[in-house]
Amino acid sequence: MTITTTSIEVPEPQRVRDFVMPWNHTLSANGPAANAARALGPWHPQEFMAECVETIPEAGGLKTFVFRRLDGAPLAFRAGQYLNIAFPIHGEDQDPVDRSYSISSAPTSPWTFSITVKRDNGGLVSPWIHDHVEPGTVLDMLGPVGAFHLPDVERRPRYLLLAAGAGITPIMSMLRTIHALPGRADVVVLYHGAAPGEFGFAKELEYIANVDDRIQVFYSLGDRSVPENWEWMLGRLTAQMLEQVAPDANGRQVYACGPEGYLNHAADLLRKVGVDDTSVHMEFFSGDRKTLLEYQEEISLAEDLAEEYAEEAAEQTNHFAETQPAELQLFQPAATDIDTEAEVEAEAVADADTDAPVDDSDFTSVGEGTLTLSFIKSRIKLRIDPTERILGPAQRAGVRIGANCQEGMCGSCKIVKISGEVEMNHQGGIRAREIASGKFLPCCSTAQSDMVIDA
Ligand code: FES
Repeated sequence: MTITTTSIEVPEPQRVRDFVMPWNHTLSANGPAANAARALGPWHPQEFMAECVETIPEAGGLKTFVFRRLDGAPLAFRAGQYLNIAFPIHGEDQDPVDRSYSISSAPTSPWTFSITVKRDNGGLVSPWIHDHVEPGTVLDMLGPVGAFHLPDVERRPRYLLLAAGAGITPIMSMLRTIHALPGRADVVVLYHGAAPGEFGFAKELEYIANVDDRIQVFYSLGDRSVPENWEWMLGRLTAQMLEQVAPDANGRQVYACGPEGYLNHAADLLRKVGVDDTSVHMEFFSGDRKTLLEYQEEISLAEDLAEEYAEEAAEQTNHFAETQPAELQLFQPAATDIDTEAEVEAEAVADADTDAPVDDSDFTSVGEGTLTLSFIKSRIKLRIDPTERILGPAQRAGVRIGANCQEGMCGSCKIVKISGEVEMNHQGGIRAREIASGKFLPCCSTAQSDMVIDA
């Protein structure tokens, strides 16, 4: 049988007129959003743990790391934003090194998300990430952060996306998002790379440009020597090049990401071809001091927001837990895994005067075993053996402890010990400074002595 693929006329797809991110539609719909949709918004930065589930080598010294949140929630972000991630480069007992990386995946597939990292052999963090982050690695993240992103609604989206080198990362998130959504759009991508084999995501870009008639992709080879079979543009960004790929550049929103020199040059050229500054959005990828300071400011603001949001979530969790039938083991949103240093310190202070002996009179005693765990908020004394993990017997006795993974990974069961000893075998769900301030994960801990616990 012969299959002909070239002579079939395929009509163009029909699309709605507006270009609307799906969450925006959900938020403006009448009536309450369904649970999964509600989980996708709002986009407050949060602190959460995420597990690497896949690594994908890319061209140009890039590597993509795919993650999923350990609390099972989707990650709500806008295409172009970044995450601040703590990497335990100097060991689990030392302070981690924080770095920010743009999310390269699209928010339209929120159950996993990815960052794409360029290896810089002279750097401290990127070689460590390339060599040590693998499926199963759990990292502490804060985000989403950043104002460099696509809008939620655009009546007539016409974009010029400019990327140089690793600057393709947030641009890729934007492009994947646009490709995944219906709606009219007109997108031109101009991507500068150093050598023909160094354009990250080249196969996917080629595919998208082939199957999506709303998207055109152009490449240019920077200022390197020209290989024989190179058919695309050559040289650094010029006004002629902009005119060539987007003669209507001044009618487009421009998103650009790359090294500082490239972006400064691009800003001048865009002005020259008539693009108004208000239509130009830039993300610096240089790691220069000014950019780092801006990032730090954004991240500290995000930490404050994450703290506020964690408090709100904790209230909602309590309400949720109170309204569940006791006998059902339903999933409870993890609120306690979003602890902040401020909370840890506050708890450490609160703990200082709790050495007083526990008054037995209003405690309920349950269980059998050689050790006694006194849960002071629940007013429960639990007898337990030193071989038993604490979480299960405590929950069955009526102590309210949120839990998810049950393996010491997600951090959602974290509670504070006021006195006594535990042996804990966690898998990244708790930080060294939290342990130092008295926190532990009862899902992976056994009691080594009588204990008093703040739960
Ligand atoms: S339930 Fe996940 S760390 Fe304890």
